[in-house]
Amino acid sequence: MLAWYDGAARVLPWRAPPGSAPPDPYRVWLSEIMLQQTQVATVIPYFERWTARWPDFASLAAADDAEVMSMWAGLGYYARARNLLKGARAVVAEHGGRLPDTEAALLTIPGIGPYTAAAIAAIAFGRRAVVVDGNVERVVARLFAIPTPMPAAKPAIRAATDTITPDTRAGDFAQAMMDLGARICTPRSPKCLFCPIAAGCTARIEGEPERYPVKAAK
Ligand code: ADE
Repeated sequence: MLAWYDGAARVLPWRAPPGSAPPDPYRVWLSEIMLQQTQVATVIPYFERWTARWPDFASLAAADDAEVMSMWAGLGYYARARNLLKGARAVVAEHGGRLPDTEAALLTIPGIGPYTAAAIAAIAFGRRAVVVDGNVERVVARLFAIPTPMPAAKPAIRAATDTITPDTRAGDFAQAMMDLGARICTPRSPKCLFCPIAAGCTARIEGEPERYPVKAAK
């Protein structure tokens, strides 16, 4: 996965090049919150405008609430914008303007839940963390042909992801899995011919990768 990512990583404004020093934690935090319920292509211009206006926690913490809400307009789920402001103010008031660098401490910041804490710890701080978003869920459910229907399969998917997460470059690994899910291991018609881990994919070997993740019976 890491070798594939080195050659195929999407170039995105919140990322550092594969294998290089981690990107700015502020930008990782902001991007992960914007990406929670919104597609990458939609997020990019918002991310660019936002970081031009508020490049760091200190400037965002001092921002006018109404301007923040208007900058968010169009992204939906406005609680995320209010949480960003709360989060920035907590980082400034309680952490000296820098995000803490462990999952446990990140979880104490308003707006950061378990997924976001793991993603930030891995991507911004190079810590080993198990990062499972919707794309990763699909990739892992197929790789291991996890037979349990969703959402009951979530703990098994998480445990399986843990077994394949490397001790180093966990952030690149997580983003490699996201990119694989977004571009190759798609919900419909996965492009197994281009998949770097097809040889070890139980769902592909069974012949029906789209069966996974197994849907709950209606
Ligand atoms: N979705 C959530 N986080 C992401 C990231 N870091 N890169 C690409 N897609 C994502």
